Amino acid sequence: MKSFSSFVPAFVAIVLGLVLNSAVFANGGKTSVYVRQVQKAVDMPLDSDVFRVPPGYNAPQQVHITQGDHDGKAVIVSWLTEDEPGSSVVLYWGENIKQKKKAEGKFDTYKFYNYTSGYIHHCTIRNLEYSTKYYYEVGLDHTRRKFWFTTPPAVGPNVPYTFGLIGDLGQSFDSNSTLTHYEQNPQKGQAVLFVGDLSYADNYPNHDNVRWDSWGRFVERSVAYQPWIWTAGNHEIDFAPEIGENEPFKPYTHRYHVPYRASTSTAPFWYSIKRASAYIIVLSSYSAYGKYTPQYKWLEKELPKVNRSETPWLIVLMHSPWYNSYNYHYMEGESMRVMYEPWFVQYKVDVVFAGHVHAYERSERVSNIAYNVVNGICTPVKDQSAPVYITIGDGGNLEGLATNMTEPQPAYSAYREASFGHAIFDIKNQTHAYYSWHRNHDGYAVEADSMWFFNRFWHPVDESSTSQ
Ligand SMILES: [Fe+2]
Repeated sequence: MKSFSSFVPAFVAIVLGLVLNSAVFANGGKTSVYVRQVQKAVDMPLDSDVFRVPPGYNAPQQVHITQGDHDGKAVIVSWLTEDEPGSSVVLYWGENIKQKKKAEGKFDTYKFYNYTSGYIHHCTIRNLEYSTKYYYEVGLDHTRRKFWFTTPPAVGPNVPYTFGLIGDLGQSFDSNSTLTHYEQNPQKGQAVLFVGDLSYADNYPNHDNVRWDSWGRFVERSVAYQPWIWTAGNHEIDFAPEIGENEPFKPYTHRYHVPYRASTSTAPFWYSIKRASAYIIVLSSYSAYGKYTPQYKWLEKELPKVNRSETPWLIVLMHSPWYNSYNYHYMEGESMRVMYEPWFVQYKVDVVFAGHVHAYERSERVSNIAYNVVNGICTPVKDQSAPVYITIGDGGNLEGLATNMTEPQPAYSAYREASFGHAIFDIKNQTHAYYSWHRNHDGYAVEADSMWFFNRFWHPVDESSTSQ
């Protein structure tokens, strides 16, 4: 056995090597020298307390909410009952109002190979007051369950609002750590922008949909109390013709409703919402996006509708990143970037959040839109009209971390690190937002990466000098 003293020089050499490595090869920004212990992420067993079924016959479970209209005055409440349909009614009331209101929803079931779902209820409650705490109840008699949420402030230009950012969450022990860190972050997120890949049920034999149910119970502790804005990832596709399942997105679309019709979208995979001072556009990496496709035509009409005097902050969510310097999923987002990046620059998108790569990365403000096949101009260049691209696919799913990066670090990459975590996008006013990324291995309040965002429409000043 080696003595402790022989470890010390070896340790120093490793750390020095890592520091020198980043100093010598980093043409771009910073590759963090923080090295998380690489160990395989393991899903929590089904009898874990986080998956506990609420007590009582047919008790509502997997309760979750999301925005239910275009401007934040409606909420979609969803839940599942296992034994029988029960009731699809939601009772709700404002904090200072005794009178309970009632909204009637609908339920549905689906089959997936040899799995039959419980009764999945969706109920939209409308005409809510802004900035108001509401209580709501689902279920019947002795198994009634009560939750609450706070509606956002009225849509407007100088309305502070705090978004959480989580991607590729899954249901491993690391996923639980990510969710706990988000919940315990002293900067309290008011809604989550979720960038796709929810349950990872499709990693189980026959896409065991029991893992969709366990995931729904796992995240209830957050998503029953604040809306999560959903983006579809590749693990939502659940396309499995080998077992007779030919309908893409079947479990996801039955379980997670979004208000796509309110933004004149024709499919739940791309849509928009306004929330406080933000305009959020959700895109689908896994639906057709070429010219003349429904998603293309929708986005072409959607971007000119964004009124920056009303919603200064323009945020785009998608699953597969356009700027990614890891060797995982490298260039998978490239064809969509080619299609839509000129629009993002033209309409001055502030920030694009993506997942898919199980690590963290933040880009400089760059664009790569000059190339026209013959001119050879195909290098990303600094562009103050371009968004910052952030990959936040580090939720902690069972597939483990993406640790292998392209070297040298490209100039467009400002910061990258292979650690699990979440982020906060804290809009202060029309011109400033504070962004921070938090790794799971730190204390709840620690910021591993941060940046002041200057709004691209109202204050398009280069903020890269202020970034860490
Ligand atoms: Fe993914």
